[in-house]
Amino acid sequence: MPLGRILVVDDEDSMCQYLSILLRKEGYTVRTANSGAQALKAIEEEPADLVMTDIQMPKMDGIQLLKGIKAMDPTTPVVIMTAYASEQSAIDAVNLGAFSYLQKHCKNDEIKIVVRNALALRQAKTEAQELRRELSKKKTTKSIIGQSPRMRSVFKMVDKIASTTATILINGESGTGKELIAQSIHQRSDRANETFVAINCGAIPETLLESQLFGHVKGSFTGADRDHDGFCRQAENGTIFLDEIGETPHAIQVKLLRMLQEREIYPVGSSCPVKVNVRVIAATNRDLEDEVARGNFRTDLYYRLNVIPLNLPSLRDRVDDIPLLVDHFLKRCCPGEYVGPLPTILDDGALRALQAYDWPGNVRELENVIERASIIREGTRITMRDLPTFVADAQGGQAAGGNLAVGGPWTLEDLEKAHILAVLDGSGRARKQTADILGINASTLYRKLKKYGVQDDDDVQALADDLAGTAGEELLAAIDAQLREQDGSVAAPGVPELETVGS
Ligand SMILES: Nc1ncnc2c1ncn2[C@@H]1O[C@H](COP(=O)(O)OP(=O)(O)OP(=O)(O)O)[C@@H](O)[C@H]1O
Ligand SMILES: [Mg+2]
Repeated sequence: MPLGRILVVDDEDSMCQYLSILLRKEGYTVRTANSGAQALKAIEEEPADLVMTDIQMPKMDGIQLLKGIKAMDPTTPVVIMTAYASEQSAIDAVNLGAFSYLQKHCKNDEIKIVVRNALALRQAKTEAQELRRELSKKKTTKSIIGQSPRMRSVFKMVDKIASTTATILINGESGTGKELIAQSIHQRSDRANETFVAINCGAIPETLLESQLFGHVKGSFTGADRDHDGFCRQAENGTIFLDEIGETPHAIQVKLLRMLQEREIYPVGSSCPVKVNVRVIAATNRDLEDEVARGNFRTDLYYRLNVIPLNLPSLRDRVDDIPLLVDHFLKRCCPGEYVGPLPTILDDGALRALQAYDWPGNVRELENVIERASIIREGTRITMRDLPTFVADAQGGQAAGGNLAVGGPWTLEDLEKAHILAVLDGSGRARKQTADILGINASTLYRKLKKYGVQDDDDVQALADDLAGTAGEELLAAIDAQLREQDGSVAAPGVPELETVGS
């Protein structure tokens, strides 16, 4: 709809008529009201793109009307009309958020220019809002992966609470997906077409945080050269996500409490409250109850926020989900390349190491590790060698089984391990007999098996299976070639020198 709905407010009928005729001629749709109360009612019935109001009216004057309009829709421009040029109250009105003021007996051209500019501003603000909405819709197409019982109950809860307007407090360690869940709640709510705004309360200095959250008026501090909406107003009718809420400074905690209780905010430098309609989702990786007990977080705010608590499990508490998550990240990292089941691109050993590691950085850390591995891998499959050592070490140095790279290059350790395992498997898993065949004592064999993460027959089986696979076949062929080379019969280029096997 073209922007051009103007509401003229004046207790003098003649002024209303004069402006109506002038502005209708310009193609605008004009309504009139003879009092502030009538004007607010008219806007409630149908929004206006511009309000032009007399400043002096009985009961509700122009300034009060301005405050009322801004509380209903802060993007509506208001032009104040005064009897005298540079009247102080008109200047005050501009400081309170009026677009401009006009002297009642100014030239028609001046009126037309102010109206055109005010409507252009309104248009720009409306477009910016639309863009933000589009952007927030696009940002949230990420899927949330998880089939473990803990995640299933999280999803169930999300389904239940999404359509309500209740405030939600998400608890979870860093990287567990708190923001992802918050976005998903927004997407499933009837606010989905409105803006989702995320703000990290711990990352912004206190002085800035207040104006980022609640906005400021022009001149409220050095550098505030124009009005600024702030995130709460940008999220109007939508959702605001307050991340790291536990790190919010005390002074801001008080203001957030007021926002939750009164549903209104005060932009910095303004004494005029603005009504807001936002759903609040907060998140913390701290124990907020503990912060309350230690006096770092206000009890009243805690209870206001914690209407519906949602606890996200750490990744180490849902190890079952790791293969699914890895599969998900690999499909994203290797587009068009990875189609088959997980083992076609990630070998068993690497997967076991991923499941043994305790993931202090949770899903975010896993995502980074997989992304890195998919880039640095030398073969087609990701193996233990492509994982950071702290992950590979999680299984006691080397994981049992599956860390043999197809096509090599193999380390001496790989060769030694393959040989030991082949003998162990061939001897029906008899460790004493294996040690005898290898010419080492039983405690050396035990130490080596422990180093490879071999604890029981299942681990031996896994390694034997791996040896029976392509990587193992190639490796055994390499050992064979190496041994024959040692005999002086065949050269085997590219195979590491085998100094001692089994010692
Ligand atoms: N269940 C999941 N499925 C898919 N991706 C996930 C999942 N959980 C988290 N992620 C991914 O992990 C990363 C971190 O998630 P997010 O930012 O939501 O975590 P957070 O808990 O808010 O972290 P922080 O406490 O550090 O702010 C993101 O890239 C997100 O897409
Ligand atoms: Mg976060």
